[in-house]
Amino acid sequence: MKILDFGSINLDFTYQVDHHVKTGETITSLNRTVFPGGKGYNQAVALGRAGAEGVFFACRLGKDGDFLIPICSDAGVDTRYMEITDLPTGQGIIQLNREGDNCIILFPSANRSIDEEFADRVLEGFTCGDLLLLQNEISSLSYIIDRAYEKGMRIVMNPSPFDFRLKECDLTKIGIFMINETEGNQLTGKDDPEEILDALKELYPETEIILTLGEKGSVYSYKDKRIYQSAYEVVPVDTTAAGDTFTGYYLASLLKGLSIEECLDTASKASAMSVTVKGAIPSIPLYKDVMASDIRKRG
Ligand code: RIB
Repeated sequence: MKILDFGSINLDFTYQVDHHVKTGETITSLNRTVFPGGKGYNQAVALGRAGAEGVFFACRLGKDGDFLIPICSDAGVDTRYMEITDLPTGQGIIQLNREGDNCIILFPSANRSIDEEFADRVLEGFTCGDLLLLQNEISSLSYIIDRAYEKGMRIVMNPSPFDFRLKECDLTKIGIFMINETEGNQLTGKDDPEEILDALKELYPETEIILTLGEKGSVYSYKDKRIYQSAYEVVPVDTTAAGDTFTGYYLASLLKGLSIEECLDTASKASAMSVTVKGAIPSIPLYKDVMASDIRKRG
């Protein structure tokens, strides 16, 4: 079985700030670092670093981002569908505050040049039973979902960032949702995690849901089954790509045949480790380091 991650790739211009800028305010950053990022790319690298095999990453980027390709292949990901275009690579403009929390503005650029022709060309290499991983930072999402579903691919969706484009997609075709509380609220209108899961079960009865709850851990929900997992205790310096690390590690663990409990546990641990390092790609840990780490669960 192959895994296709069809998604975004960005250069993350990360500005360290005292606090996130408010309306009408001008602030001076303490420094700026450019990190490789983008939800699609982060999740592909996380899958590779977690030890998943048969992972392919499809994206569009500019010549300014060509150095991002070997980082992905070094993680063990097949990069044949990483296509260079005349547009610049997408960008994330990130404010990182003292608490390690971020807020992000995206400049999509090449990420939104993905068209039906490119989607068809990529999907031609995949078949029934292969897994497709999507986020919401590229164009032609609805088309990709429909074609992949017709082929019998199992679709995993991380509906992030949540916006109107998702309303154009037939989300009943999604096999697994990987969401956080904010996206759960945006999908259902509910705030309480249990109510989010109840509402999603009604809306998408055939879909498995993995809901991450930050410091409160994570939950797996499918039909009448719910499995809860607590989070690991760390001191955060940068939460960028914590969710992407969770997604990559969860899926890699699932494909290795681990139980849901083990998948949630490994993903939680890797994700916690990622927030202790600055930047998206630099923070995604290697599997051997996750296994060796002695970080502890919250009490
Ligand atoms: O999930 C984190 C990512 O979101 C960043 O790397 C940024 O590029 C945005 O895509």
